[in-house]
Amino acid sequence: MLTFVHYKGAPPLEFVIRRAGRQDVGAMAAMDGGGATWTADSIYPSPFVWLQAETVQPLATLLVAVPAAPAPTHPPTPVLGWVCAWDIAAEGQLDLMMLSVHAAARRRGVATALLRALADRHPRRRRAVLEVAAGNRGARAFYAAQGAVEVGRRRGYYADGRDALVLRLPLPPPGAPGTRERAGQA
Ligand SMILES: CC(C)(COP(=O)(O)OP(=O)(O)OC[C@H]1O[C@@H](n2cnc3c(N)ncnc32)[C@H](O)[C@@H]1OP(=O)(O)O)[C@@H](O)C(=O)NCCC(=O)NCCS
Repeated sequence: MLTFVHYKGAPPLEFVIRRAGRQDVGAMAAMDGGGATWTADSIYPSPFVWLQAETVQPLATLLVAVPAAPAPTHPPTPVLGWVCAWDIAAEGQLDLMMLSVHAAARRRGVATALLRALADRHPRRRRAVLEVAAGNRGARAFYAAQGAVEVGRRRGYYADGRDALVLRLPLPPPGAPGTRERAGQA
């Protein structure tokens, strides 16, 4: 388990990344990225039920970023961010199902650290594929900053009829610089 410290803005945000358990699912499902991007063809009745299933799904890696220690300066949530990916061995890549950071913890390196932790757990997978809503400018900017490229479009992919873009995302090499190494930068 790594401890990440992000100092870009004051105060610093200290967090650890670990596997998610059933106790985390309530907080995860309540965050943007749970219901907001529910797909039209989902077989699950809710994000909560889906996430419960993912905690015991053998193909899935489900990670959470949680505060390293209680601190009054931390965002008011037990889960800062989470990522869910399936390792599709036949395709040699990860299927990134969801990446979400609590609104009060964004632009502090949490998603970058989650991607790094995901890559560290899958050293033989060098890329991931994912869908992102075409109008989700923040997420598209984040993935572009990670080097993602657009490889397709799925029309009406989300439950509310929005289109999804399909992105191919290079994964950071195992042990790549992450949030910890950015500590102290302005
Ligand atoms: C997309 C998301 C996961 C990014 O999480 P984050 O922890 O804020 O991302 P990071 O702090 O690691 O950002 C790293 C870099 O990505 C880029 N970036 C991230 N969010 C951005 C935004 N809203 N606008 C522009 N650039 C952005 C920046 O270059 C940023 O570096 P900087 O802060 O030093 O400028 C988060 O905004 C989120 O949870 N959104 C809602 C859920 C969602 O849309 N998930 C994706 C569905 S596929």
